[in-house]
Amino acid sequence: MIKQNLNTMGQSFQAEIEKAENVDEIDIIKVKYLGKKGKLADLMKQLKSLDKEEKIEIGKQANLLKTQFQNQIKEKNEQLKRIKFDQQMENEWVDITLDPIKTQMGSSHPITMVQNKLEFIFESMGFQVLDGPHIESEYYNFEALNIPAHHPARDMQDTFYFEDGNLLRTQTSTIQIRGMERLEPPLRIIGTGKVFRCERTDASHDSCFHQLEGMMVDKNISVAHLIHFMKTMLSEIFESDVKVRLRPGYFPFVEPGFELDMACLLCKGKGCSVCSRVGWIELLGCGMTHPNVLRAGGVDPSKYSGFAFGIGMDRLAMMRYGITDIRPLHGGNLNFMRRFTLK
Ligand code: FA5
Repeated sequence: MIKQNLNTMGQSFQAEIEKAENVDEIDIIKVKYLGKKGKLADLMKQLKSLDKEEKIEIGKQANLLKTQFQNQIKEKNEQLKRIKFDQQMENEWVDITLDPIKTQMGSSHPITMVQNKLEFIFESMGFQVLDGPHIESEYYNFEALNIPAHHPARDMQDTFYFEDGNLLRTQTSTIQIRGMERLEPPLRIIGTGKVFRCERTDASHDSCFHQLEGMMVDKNISVAHLIHFMKTMLSEIFESDVKVRLRPGYFPFVEPGFELDMACLLCKGKGCSVCSRVGWIELLGCGMTHPNVLRAGGVDPSKYSGFAFGIGMDRLAMMRYGITDIRPLHGGNLNFMRRFTLK
């Protein structure tokens, strides 16, 4: 009877293990047949009622069955693991020979590159970088710069006025006054940023453009210092000597005042739309700081003198990177921007 039970147990185990589809089901079968209160354990308890020889024989068979169950459970577990792995491989299949998804690298804007380089050059010559607001008061944009309300120079720099009397700054020269107010002389400062003007646009003029302002105040500062710093800046930016000319220029906040032109690199001085057919492009205004401006900044003009300059960074970028029109510099065309890389 017990022997028969052993046989049917073997058969039912066989049928169940074959049907099992996952690890949980196998665990249930394992407990059912091999557990402490499982079928095999039950059967072993019945051995007590047998005589010695039957006990040995059935005991042996029961042990064989136990080993067989254990092996089959192990095999079935491995088989299920393999199936699961194969399915996973099938579902998560990747073609490693495909081209990777290309990511597009960004690049700095040409004006940013010129600005970074200018800041680096001037910082290495002991200049401190300051900032100023785009929305300015008339005082900082005009009055403190020796351009009182009635002065015709205001007409040359018309801009957008707010109802509260403030305006969009027309020049970074505002930073001169803010710098002198904050720092004690001797001082060397630069400040960069956007400026805004009512302007008819063409290849070299826009209504929003970028300037870099610089100022040095110390004892016995002369035009020679100014020319030295301008020449050093240009040879560093262009990494070679460039042809420049200094001509008188009128700015109420400097005396004497100059304009520095550079031989147009786009037409090699022959004349083009960027340089208005004259072969020279105006890059910056500069001069020796007017005593009224020093006073407005709280500096005593009997003790100190200084120079200041305002560079058009858009035009500098155009010369540096061979750009023949200022307007695409302020557009959002990425194909245009990507042509320029950091040098
Ligand atoms: C000024 O703005 C003076 N604040 C510069 C200055 C500073 C003079 C300190 C003396 C002492 P100006 O308007 O010339 O100057 O502009 C300076 C430079 O900005 C020009 O040489 C030119 O390179 C650039 N620029 C002027 N107008 C435009 C414009 N509409 N579009 C693009 N660049 C311009």
